[in-house]
Amino acid sequence: MAFSERVARLKSSLIREILAAAQRPGVMSFAGGLPAESMLPAVDWSALPAGFGQYGMSEGEPELRQRIAAEARALGIECSAEQVLVTAGSQQALDLVAKLFIDPGTPVLVESPTYLAALQSFQLFGARCVTVSLNDDGPDLEQLAARLEQERPAFAYLIPTFQNPSAVRYSAEVRTRVAELLDRHNVVLVEDEPYRELVYDDQLAQPLVAQLRSADWVYTGTLSKTLLPGLRIGYLIASPKLFPYLLRLKQAADLHTNRIGQWQALQWLGTPALAAHIAELQVFYRDRRDAMDAALRRHFGDLAEWQTPAGGLFFWLRLRQPVDTRTLLPQALAQDVAFMPGEAFFVDPDAHPGYVRLNFSHVPPELMEEGVARLAGVFRAAAEGGKSDRSTDTAAGASARLPAV
Ligand SMILES: Cc1ncc(COP(=O)(O)O)c(C=O)c1O
Repeated sequence: MAFSERVARLKSSLIREILAAAQRPGVMSFAGGLPAESMLPAVDWSALPAGFGQYGMSEGEPELRQRIAAEARALGIECSAEQVLVTAGSQQALDLVAKLFIDPGTPVLVESPTYLAALQSFQLFGARCVTVSLNDDGPDLEQLAARLEQERPAFAYLIPTFQNPSAVRYSAEVRTRVAELLDRHNVVLVEDEPYRELVYDDQLAQPLVAQLRSADWVYTGTLSKTLLPGLRIGYLIASPKLFPYLLRLKQAADLHTNRIGQWQALQWLGTPALAAHIAELQVFYRDRRDAMDAALRRHFGDLAEWQTPAGGLFFWLRLRQPVDTRTLLPQALAQDVAFMPGEAFFVDPDAHPGYVRLNFSHVPPELMEEGVARLAGVFRAAAEGGKSDRSTDTAAGASARLPAV
């Protein structure tokens, strides 16, 4: 069979296998970016107008676009509803951006580490991902300036607010400097903000695109982390020059985003009920974050270092004694506990052993202690010279069923 040349670049996804294995009953999963089951809001389709079963507009429902634009303007993003495209999750926004800009060999700037499903998508189209390393307050600015100058990337993909996986939130100063650099080098910014509302302190960050003066941009958000990921409703907002192309790519991909989900989104977006739900989520997830922080201090203090995340859904651990954490998954799963190996978030995984991403939203606090203790046992055995055999790194051979969030 003759597949397209890009199919050869499809990575087999170890992570999807882990997530599938982590679905086994009884497994405590710190692997995915899943919301807590108990915080998923109930849906009621009974008032859905029959007309919503009809084909709709590729741009999305006009009222929904209005509300998304209004929320973005409240964050300082100058835009109108005509610049909003409703997508099947923010993942589709990344796919459309990849299709718009990437040919085999096209340079794309990404943070190191970065969101692995974005890497997957960009690399599928043949991107040459050039990286900028992250400090606690954002990207290394000297490195960023050099990369923009030397590599002339087609776009910079950045997650400035509670980055996945590192949980880094760029400081206000770094945001200003990054925006200045992108303007100066006229590089398109693709800003991905799924975690903006999941903030556990009182510091609010302004989107980076709001500070751009001349560079083009795409901003993407989602209902997945605050409402229902299964609804698959996200959106992009693009500067006027880019929007028509993204719209045509959306048409070519799937005509339009599912209208039932858009109707459901309209029941929530911009309502006091959603504001109350988000306030409740913040308290709920802050508690889970604190429970994990306490468990980590008890069990991982001698094994790893980390910053307590001020938002998002993840702890990002750096092992004091680096090992390729992919090799430890089978041992962890054998103990009914799952984690996300940090290597997967790097463009060059083998060069970055010894990082672990742990989700704190999904496992209930009463199991957190036990799960973290079991995980620490696995990492302690490895640090003390326990064997880690690369040949067993296929996460119990589970089939790929779930996405790599
Ligand atoms: C940084 C980032 N971008 C995009 C997504 C995809 O989200 P969605 O469900 O909206 O497609 C995720 C999900 O985990 C994410 O962490």
